[in-house]
Amino acid sequence: MANCAIVGINWGDEGKGRMVDYLTNHFDVVVRYQGGGNAGHTVVNDRGTFALHLLPSGIFREGVVNILGNGVALDCENLLAEMNTLRAAGVSITPENLKISDRASLLLPWHRDLDGLEEARLADKKYGSTKQGIAPFYSDKYQKKTVMAGELLHPQHLKEHLADLLEWKNLTLQKVYGAKGYTLDELLAWVDKYCEAVKPYITNTTAFLRDAQKAGKSILFEAQLGALRDLDYGIYPYTTSSNAVAAYAPVGSGLPTAKLDDVVGVVKAYSSCVGEGPFVCEWFGEDAQKLRDAGAEYGAKTGRPRRVGPIDLVATRYGVEIQGATTIALTKLDILSYMDKIPVCAHYELDGQQTDEFPFPVCLQDAKPVIEYVDGWKCDISKVRSWDELPENARNYVEYVERAIGCHIGYVSVGAERDSLIIR
Ligand code: GTP
Repeated sequence: MANCAIVGINWGDEGKGRMVDYLTNHFDVVVRYQGGGNAGHTVVNDRGTFALHLLPSGIFREGVVNILGNGVALDCENLLAEMNTLRAAGVSITPENLKISDRASLLLPWHRDLDGLEEARLADKKYGSTKQGIAPFYSDKYQKKTVMAGELLHPQHLKEHLADLLEWKNLTLQKVYGAKGYTLDELLAWVDKYCEAVKPYITNTTAFLRDAQKAGKSILFEAQLGALRDLDYGIYPYTTSSNAVAAYAPVGSGLPTAKLDDVVGVVKAYSSCVGEGPFVCEWFGEDAQKLRDAGAEYGAKTGRPRRVGPIDLVATRYGVEIQGATTIALTKLDILSYMDKIPVCAHYELDGQQTDEFPFPVCLQDAKPVIEYVDGWKCDISKVRSWDELPENARNYVEYVERAIGCHIGYVSVGAERDSLIIR
């Protein structure tokens, strides 16, 4: 694989972490190109179980260069905490294996404050933010009202820039929300506490990636969340505030001329969704709790119980199209082993008509799932390592999904561990 993006096809939490961890073995460089401390991959390896929010998943592999691209919300507080956790587990993190784009913008303390204040103001109309400051951060980035990481290397300029931003941001904090503002001293103390340690990693990553590409290095572009959370193509406004689609990888990574040779789309064998917004195939009550517990569907960052339901083939087909997926990794097939019959949301019914077209966000709340059933396999498949060893009904389920979404399923995951993977 030369250039490859690994992306979520649904609402996020599809299990990208384990797939990225597997794929990083085949790449020289791994780049995160969007998002920040709001979502997290879970990687399970011989050092333990890690929730990575910012660090690229290649950080566990020796010889892999990891990059936080310009499209990322550089949350130094979360990043430092993550670096400390990994170091304590014996993972080496140096300016050789971690590089931060000088053009990545800083998530400042007021972004987190404003996220919480706005969710509180919205009350029962809230979007379900993780309150990590992502929406206020990206709004400010597009208003050109935040600070690039490279500015940390120019302290006098930084001080003047922060003083300007402070004057403007205190107006919003105090006059719109009645909250406490910041003083320049408080802000500079925050920079000292959280940003100083990040400085050695800041560099011109566009030049690094250009040279890596010229030298024939292979690059893996790593996304967070999924197609249905993409700002432009997702279920707006219940999206994140960045582009989670593979098409954004060249822009957000720092290699705008990159061509993607492969796009690995990760799909979970059932559906889960965190936060608010329409979720057509949602289950409630006992069935939901059983599936949630079987799949341990609780937020990696927040611990919130995730909404769950059967796989949604209408949404998944849309996600595959939007991502331009060339191969699918179907994860958590083992979780469905307890079911006699596996329900799938095969179509939607909207305005009395059956449809396979993913509706406009506003219409989505009126869509009803049309459920079909596939026979279950009712046995433990977590030790299976080859396609032929999978029970026939499990193979039927995979093939059924493959036909419905129109993309080859090249990987089937049957457990969280590194080797619990069937390659087809
Ligand atoms: P976001 O970037 O936040 O969307 O996260 P993600 O897609 O990386 O999902 P995440 O890894 O946080 O969540 C998946 C969870 O399922 C993790 O706890 C994984 O260890 C686990 N997991 C992944 N694949 C499998 C699988 O095939 N079977 C089982 N049982 N667990 C799995």
